[in-house]
This record gives sequence, C-alpha cells and structure tokens, in this order.
Amino acid sequence: MDRIDWIENETERTARWQSESGMPAPKQMAIVDDTIRPDDAYGLAGQGTALLWRGDFPSARHMLAAMAKRVDYRARKSRAKREEGTTPGQAFHLHRQAQAQKARLLGMLLVQLEDDYYIKLPRAQDVKAACTEAWGVSDGGQTVVALRELMGVIGAHEWRTKGLEVPGLGGRIHPHYGVFTPTRNEYLDLIAKATFPAAAKEKGVAFDIGTGTGVLAAMLARHAGIAKIVATDIDPRSLTCARENVARMGLADRVEVVEADLYPEGKAGLVVCNPPWLPARPSTPLEKGIYDPESHMLKGFLAGLADHLVPGGEGWLILSDLAERLGLRSEGELAENIAKAGLVVKERTQATPRHPKAADKADPLHAARAAEVVSLWKLVPAPRV
Ligand SMILES: C[S@@+](CC[C@H](N)C(=O)[O-])C[C@H]1O[C@@H](n2cnc3c(N)ncnc32)[C@H](O)[C@@H]1O
Repeated sequence: MDRIDWIENETERTARWQSESGMPAPKQMAIVDDTIRPDDAYGLAGQGTALLWRGDFPSARHMLAAMAKRVDYRARKSRAKREEGTTPGQAFHLHRQAQAQKARLLGMLLVQLEDDYYIKLPRAQDVKAACTEAWGVSDGGQTVVALRELMGVIGAHEWRTKGLEVPGLGGRIHPHYGVFTPTRNEYLDLIAKATFPAAAKEKGVAFDIGTGTGVLAAMLARHAGIAKIVATDIDPRSLTCARENVARMGLADRVEVVEADLYPEGKAGLVVCNPPWLPARPSTPLEKGIYDPESHMLKGFLAGLADHLVPGGEGWLILSDLAERLGLRSEGELAENIAKAGLVVKERTQATPRHPKAADKADPLHAARAAEVVSLWKLVPAPRV
C-alpha cells in the first residue's frame, strides 16, 4: 500500500495514498484553502507541488473546475499553433499527451478522507458508499486522494445507483466503477436488430467474450431465446458487475459469468465480442475498455473463433473504424487478420455514431469521429476447399 507523507503545522503526517492510475505520491505539498487564487493553484500544480485542500468542500470543486479551464485554454492555444499539417494519427497522440498532462496537473489538488471515508471539510458530501464500492471497505486509516479521482468515484456511484436505460435490452444496466459503460448505443442497436443463427437458438449456447457490465449477454438472453450464455472477462470489477446485472434481471440461471482470458471451455452457436476499439496502451486501468494494446484482444478473438464454433455457428465482432481513420490500424489489416484466422465475412451491418462527441467541432479528433462507422461483422469459418 502506497503512503503519502507531509509536514503540517510542524507535525509529521502520513496517510494511505490512493491513485487508480498508479501515479506516485507527490513529494512536495502545500496546505491550501479557499483563499488561494486559481492562477496560483494552477502555477503550483504545474511546478509539481500538490495542494492539500483544507477549505470548504464545494470550493475545492470550483477550484478544480477553474484549474481545468486553464489547462484546456492552454491546450487549445498550443493546438491551434500546431493544427496545420497534423495527420489524424499525430492529432491522436498529441490529444493523449494533452490528456495525460491534464490528468497530472489536475491530480495535484488533493483531499483527505478520514476513517470510513468521511471528509472532514465544511459542506462536504457523504462519499462513503461511493468509495467503498470503488476501493473496498476502508481499513480504518486516513486516505489522501486527488479530488478529480474522487469526483470520478462519485460519478460512478451515481451511474451504478440509477443505472442506464439500454433501449435494445428493455431494462437498465448498472455499471460499476472502472467497468466499460455502454453509453453509446449504436452498436447495441446493431445487435438488437440482427438475425440470430439457428445454431444458437433453442437449446443453443452463446459466448460473450469480454462482457463488461454483462449488457450483450443480457440482450442475448432476453431477446434471442438462447438457452445458455457464457460471459467471460479478465477484469475482476467487470466480473462482479456482470454477475450483479444478470442477477438483477433474473437471468442468472441462463447467463454464467466466468473469469477467462477470452474464451471459456467448449463451443457455441454464437460468439459475440466487442473488444476495445483502439489499439493503444491504456494509461490507467479505467481505460482498459477503450484501448487494446497491440490489438491483443481483437487478434485473440479472431484466432480462436473457428475452434469455438459448432457447425453453423457465427462469430459477431463489433468494431469501429476509428482506428483506421486515426492511422492506428492500417486499411486491410482487419481483413488480413480475419483471413489468417480461417474466417470469412458472412455479413456486415453498419451504424453511424450518434454520441455528442461525433458532432463536437472543438474535439481535436473531430474529423475522424464525424466520419466514424461502427460495424457488426458476422464471421464464419472459411469453406474447406
Ligand atoms: C469494450 S469493453 C466491452 C464490454 C461489453 N461487452 C460491452 O459491449 O459493453 C471490452 C471488455 O473486454 C474485457 N477484456 C479485455 N481483455 C480481455 C480478455 N483477454 N479476455 C476477456 N475479456 C477481456 C475488458 O475487461 C472489458 O470489459
């Protein structure tokens, strides 16, 4: 367990250091409150001095927003200078660099949590349930965490409590902290409207590889009349979340959630997989649903598919072409991997994203996002010749 040490009122202090991204505990720390000006807070954070907030809690949130505004302003200015001649791939890398810098700088505004995740600051909200869900039961000691991270934990608790209406599901999915949340539903529509293979129906079996919240497994159980679905994931938070969601929907007798690297044992009439769409390294565990390093999951899914299908079975891959548009995957690479795995495309259906980012002209990746297409690739083993 990492610790953070500092001196306050001439007394040595120590607490557990919480950082989801594994950011090391800052070495320099200033004690601040509502009297610090945003420009000074921004300046200190930029120099690597963390700011432990001892003022009013809502003011800390305002300070975070004020610092974020300054980071965004500077990022916009330096982007405008570079814009001309930047390829989509360069724009993507610069965007990630800017995101990492923003995370580092905003991660300098810290708050302390007491035993039981209590915040001993004026007008502080109760974050006990949110922190317990994200980090487990408190060990009783004090914790220091970046306010930005704590806001993420609070946001995740709100999503988990109220759930997310999934149109093709006829119900709500309750995502957990750190689990991929299906907020973009164009790909869910593609599944909802697809014709299911006879091999998976009636007494058939389906696999959902990388189930996350369990949303696709639940859709298959609810609408495709598939008798048994085995849903896998390698991430412990996703496994717990998927189990809870299927139980909540009364589907636990038909959806089995198992820990596996890609495939479970056996064969199925339908295998669905929605891997992370971008081949890049996640910078925090929270990005594992977005970035697939070296396309490990995508390639593994394709390579193992033919061996896990019963005769007449189909593999359904959900993938966006954003990676091609950003130059992260070459044109033709997907087709090559499909062929290399002994598969052919039986059918491809497509949808255009409707999420707000696709229309946001200020987004540095706007050109690529505006043209993005999400596809459902129905794959079958290549006929033997
Ligand atoms: C993009 S998310 C999709 C989640 C869910 N199927 C959905 O559509 O909302 C990808 C999921 O794959 C999981 N995953 C990544 N690598 C995996 C592997 N090798 N085996 C199983 N699951 C994996 C991640 O933990 C994550 O939950």
